[in-house]
Order: sequence, then C-alpha cells, then structure tokens
Amino acid sequence: MTRENTLQFPAGFLWGTATSPTQVEGHVENEWTHFTAQDGGNCHIACDHYHRYPEDIGWMSKLGTNAYRFGIEWSRLQSAPFAALNQNELARYVDLLDRLKLAGITPMVVLHHFSNPPWINAMGGWTNAATIPAFVDYVSQLVPALKDRVYLWNTFNEPDTYACLTYLLGGFPPQRKWKLGLFRKVIDHMAHAHVQASRIIAREGNAGREPEVGIAKNWTFFHAYKTYSPWDRTTAFACHYTFNKFVLDAFLGGGRRRASTFIGLNYYGRVRFHHFRAMTPASGTPVKRLKDFGFVCDDMVERYSAGMVKILSYLHRRFRLPIFITEHGAASENETFRERDLREYLAALHGAMAGGVDVRGFFYWSLLDNFEWQFGYAKKFGLLAVDFADEKLPRTMKPLAEVYSQICRANSIRAEASVRLE
Ligand code: FCB
Repeated sequence: MTRENTLQFPAGFLWGTATSPTQVEGHVENEWTHFTAQDGGNCHIACDHYHRYPEDIGWMSKLGTNAYRFGIEWSRLQSAPFAALNQNELARYVDLLDRLKLAGITPMVVLHHFSNPPWINAMGGWTNAATIPAFVDYVSQLVPALKDRVYLWNTFNEPDTYACLTYLLGGFPPQRKWKLGLFRKVIDHMAHAHVQASRIIAREGNAGREPEVGIAKNWTFFHAYKTYSPWDRTTAFACHYTFNKFVLDAFLGGGRRRASTFIGLNYYGRVRFHHFRAMTPASGTPVKRLKDFGFVCDDMVERYSAGMVKILSYLHRRFRLPIFITEHGAASENETFRERDLREYLAALHGAMAGGVDVRGFFYWSLLDNFEWQFGYAKKFGLLAVDFADEKLPRTMKPLAEVYSQICRANSIRAEASVRLE
C-alpha cells in the first residue's frame, strides 16, 4: 500500500463527508426546534439542506467524494407512534438517494442522530422503554422503502454523546444533569433497539448487495494531565468506563456483537484532566491556558492522532469487524491547522490499516459549516463555508476542501504527512 512518498489507500475505499438532519436541513420539528445555542443561534433554517440538497450533491461531486453519510429525520416521517410514513417526506429522501446514485456517491444512512419526534420526547424519549418498539416500527417501514437504494445503515450516532449530554452534562435538550440512572437506561434501550433494527435490516436485505449495519461510536481518550495525580486518574478512568467501556459492551458485548456487520468510529481526539477539570476548549478552558500547557487543540478537543492507531487496533482485536471512520474533522478558522490535522490523522489511519486493521472508508465531518448543537454556528467544521448572514446561504470551498478533494481523487496522501501538529 505504500509507494515512495505516497500512502495509498485500497481500491474501493470510501471517501465521504458527513452531516446530520438537525444540523444542516433546517425546518425540523424536534427537541432542537426551540433550543437556543450559546451563540444565540438556532436550527430553524440551518444550511437549508432540506431544499438545497441537489446543489450540495453538486458540491460533493466537485470535491471528488464517493460517499455521503447523512441522517433521515424520524420526526419528518412519522407523526404518531406506529403511524404510516409520510410519503411526501419519504419521496424527498428517495430523490436525494437517486441523485447521489447518479453522482456515483454511495450513501450511508443514519437512523438516529441526536433527535426524536416530539411525541417520543413527550413520553420521556429514550428513558422510556416504549420508545424501543416505536423506533423498531419506524425502521421496519423505512428499510423496505429504501433498501433498493441503501446498503450501509448506521442505526445510532454516538449513543454515548447523546445520553451524556441529555442526562449527565445538560448540554442537549432536555438538559438534565447528573442523572446517571437515566444515562444507563438510554444506552440500554438504544442497544436493544439497535439489535432489533439490525435484524430487520439483515432480513430485508438489499437488491444490490448484502446490507451492512453498525452504530457510530464516539471514542474519546480520557487521560490525566499529570499521570501521577490519583484524582485526575480516577476522573479519567470513570469517564473511560462510563462513555467507552460501558457503551461498547452494551452495543457490542457478548452475543450482541452478531447484530453488527461493521463498527462506525467517530474519532476526534482526547480530553485530559487537570484538578478535575477537562482541559478542552469545548468545556470552556481558555485557549491561552491550553497553549501554556502545550496542548494542541482545535476549537473543541485536544488533537491526538496517535490515538487513531490505538483505538483502531483495539476495536479490530476485540471485535474483528470491518470499520468505517464515520466522522473525523476539526473546527477552526485556521485552515493550515486543519490541513495538518487531516493529514496527520489520515497518516495514522493508513498506519493502522498497514498493520492489518480493516477500514473501509473515511467520512469528513463535515460537508458544510453548520449548527453545532449547543455551540450554534461558532464552530467551523465545514469543508464548505456557508455565509449565514446572507439569506441565500451561499456555499464556498475552503482551502481544506481543495486538499480533501486531491486526497479523495488520488486515493492517497503524501507520506511526509506524519509530522506532528504544533
Ligand atoms: C460528533 C457529532 C456530530 C458533530 C461532531 C462535531 O460528536 O456526531 O453531530 O457534532 O461531533
């Protein structure tokens, strides 16, 4: 896989971008509709991808990507438990899928990405076990409707992040705090729903090729800044145990592993603790302080590309399933920084693959600058910039988009990419 100065990826490798409905579509009716982010923004219009998806698929072609990971918004398709699917909304997603096909772009469909229909939220969301059959009913209608067009199914996006921010840290609606019991319930219910949804997907099959199904697990490394500090070590271990181990075991442990045919990995970096404090921009540590500590961060978390090799090797050894990097990206206004970040993580990914880990694709988060949940529009993850001040929401390629485009088209990166970020 390695020619001189080039790290080549295998033929057929998927190079994609990723989005989620609440963050890009606009016009959604879910728990985010009346939510105001820290920057005063809301998701009412977002990127208006709901109307502009044909144009956005054009951008994907310009980028030279061959895959797109996106969500289908449950609240658009069902207005009550066990109701028939809304045919107009379904037709819109079918049109999106048909246009992707014409563009030669393979879809990966996400069934749950941090949002629920209002009637699910009204009954307690995923803390209520009755949400499981409601979701399974939705899936049992959706999958047959789309199976001719979709073979990659991603049931849940980052159940750990979702359960943590809704019931432990209070960043996401319903903004509850420190409800560990509810956190565990949400994970447990989602894991049950994953197993049942996976059975439906396997049973329904696909007209073209075998369906693939998996969750997207967010993996964050939690470390103590001072490795000898017992308190910070304990905090890091508690986070690792709760968000990584407990969640992975719930979805993929024991016999449940059989429900998945792949693992989606969302990997951004690490969080280090100092005096119980998470030292990241996302948790409010001033950038200047992080610099003084020598941390390299984007506008969210510390960069830790070496972790890519560690987590991929671990997942490969433990589960022996193919892996997709369902998300990686960096939020920053500094495009040089983002380019180095991308190259470094891809070099690490390539290294893991050269070491035998079966990785099938990489999806950059995100296609567009978008509504980054509780942070609003302040975090710039896009390959394309969106001018939110202009009501036409014009998109423009950022320098990183040119870089990513070259990588996707060449199916390789330059070998010198393994320089460390500073
Ligand atoms: C992931 C989410 C995605 C986006 C990126 C930055 O945790 O899945 O929606 O917020 O982080």
